[in-house]
Amino acid sequence: MVSALPVQAAITAISPLTADTSLLILHTEPDHPVASSFLPGQFLEFSLPGVGEIPVSYCGYPSVNGSIELCIRHVGHVTTPLKIALPGDSVGLRGPFGRGFPLPSFAGQDLLLIAGGLGMAPLRSLLLALLQQRDFSGRLILVYGARETGALLFLDELLEFKKQGKIELHLGVDRPDFCLAGPPDCQIALLPTLLDRLDIDPGRTCAAICGPPVVYPQLVSSLRLMGMADARIHLSLERRMKCGVGRCGHCAVGTLLCCVDGPVFSNAELAGIEEALA
Ligand SMILES: Cc1cc2nc3c(=O)[nH]c(=O)nc-3n(C[C@H](O)[C@H](O)[C@H](O)COP(=O)(O)OP(=O)(O)OC[C@H]3O[C@@H](n4cnc5c(N)ncnc54)[C@H](O)[C@@H]3O)c2cc1C
Ligand code: FES
Repeated sequence: MVSALPVQAAITAISPLTADTSLLILHTEPDHPVASSFLPGQFLEFSLPGVGEIPVSYCGYPSVNGSIELCIRHVGHVTTPLKIALPGDSVGLRGPFGRGFPLPSFAGQDLLLIAGGLGMAPLRSLLLALLQQRDFSGRLILVYGARETGALLFLDELLEFKKQGKIELHLGVDRPDFCLAGPPDCQIALLPTLLDRLDIDPGRTCAAICGPPVVYPQLVSSLRLMGMADARIHLSLERRMKCGVGRCGHCAVGTLLCCVDGPVFSNAELAGIEEALA
């Protein structure tokens, strides 16, 4: 069930992840669907009273105690004031909205997660869900690229998962930081280059992609060259949204609406829609 009217939530913690991005922990009513029944890849509408409302992806795991994790990049009139938000501050939440990653269909498969920049937020939610899913026993490969090492989100957590043998991790940055030592094995390479170095079984691997749209065409063509079928390639298309519920048409991609038909689509569903990966 989706909550169409905003439910009140309180900020319980806010901690910086990078120079321009924070992890926000919120609490709302226990058992409320906005916190308890979402799939990774779905989003909620987040409102700051008197300022505005924006779509934000879930970045954590569903919880029955009303707690929600969001990863916020401070860029504009709603997200910048959150940089100085305090525990106890009140916000509004509606959701969950959209269609997430087809988690049940990933059972028994190898999973290749490809994240660019802030795309790590929804893919962290997927990663946590896969690690919890009892019938997920395949390889879990994360390819993650960011501008520089200081912009890599959830780095300590990812390195810990790697150390525990839970994930195979391939990190890349566009350029080195001047003052930060990068994590071990982090390469200076763009996302598509990181893919070229992978060895996967395309017949039993599904890909989940979330990142800057500009790299999607190259990622998809690399995966196809590896032999992966379009139905196995799942992409999150995060278009500008207004209503979030299929009424205004702002998020149209061909005949599809990102807010209700997506934001996650398989590449097979996008066949023939020229602007989908533009
Ligand atoms: C499905 C979906 C999921 C999202 N998930 C997250 C998330 O997990 N974390 C997060 O921080 N942001 C996320 N965003 C983007 C977030 O909604 C925008 O950053 C937000 O709308 C900017 O709001 P603002 O009022 O602070 O900025 P504004 O004052 O509206 O704009 C400031 C700057 O941000 C740019 N901008 C505005 N909206 C977007 C957008 N949708 N995408 C890219 N640039 C934009 C504007 O061009 C401008 O340069 C998501 C967007 C969508 C559609
Ligand atoms: S945001 Fe209004 S139709 Fe999708």
